[in-house]
Amino acid sequence: MIIAIDGPAGSGKSTIAREVARRFGFQKLDTGAMYRAVAYTAAARHIDLDDEPAVTDLARHIVITVSAAPEDGQRIAVDGEDVTREIRTPAVDATVSKVSAYPGVRKALLSHQRAAADDHDVVAEGRDIGTVVFPEAQIKVFLTADPRERARRRVAQRHEGEDISADALEDEVQRTLEALERRDELDSSRDVAPLSAAPDAVVIDSTAYTIDEVVQKIACLIDGRR
Ligand code: DC
Repeated sequence: MIIAIDGPAGSGKSTIAREVARRFGFQKLDTGAMYRAVAYTAAARHIDLDDEPAVTDLARHIVITVSAAPEDGQRIAVDGEDVTREIRTPAVDATVSKVSAYPGVRKALLSHQRAAADDHDVVAEGRDIGTVVFPEAQIKVFLTADPRERARRRVAQRHEGEDISADALEDEVQRTLEALERRDELDSSRDVAPLSAAPDAVVIDSTAYTIDEVVQKIACLIDGRR
């Protein structure tokens, strides 16, 4: 079985996919991490991100491996070097949409993504899973949330357990909101495989729901298909 979860940045796809995978014993496939790995590695190897042929060539030749890890669900490595933390920085947030708009980069990653589902049940999350990567997925979810709420969740997650003033938090929410909206705009307006809901996707707006409530809705969809 393939479950596709698409949606904009910060809509909770990763957390929800992890929980659904854990509950049903499926493998989780985080396709955003692969695009992040390309963006990070290009910068680390001093490749100009505007140089589409060079970035595409890199995407074709690097070996990206994703392995399960007990504490955060997955570790990602490029040519054997662990980049799990490095791909989550604001610098990668700001550049990943550029490399993921290159058709050759998308083509290079597509075969890896499809291969991951060859002999497993998977929960795959990204922007084009239900439309391009697995159009045949049995369950498609398009997860959205109000942009300010998405920014607020991101900031809360970043500062979990820290003691920070409300003003400082509000400033960071505002900056995060602007960055999220910029990335959504780039991801939705590109020519190849833009962020969009498949016609047969179930749209879930998680603004007013907890993680558990969203997982429960998806669990009902899965049970209905078994
Ligand atoms: O889900 P994320 O924020 O880690 O994704 C990072 C970027 O990768 C996102 O801004 C757009 C790109 N992406 C994509 O183009 N297609 C996917 N299936 C997944 C991510």
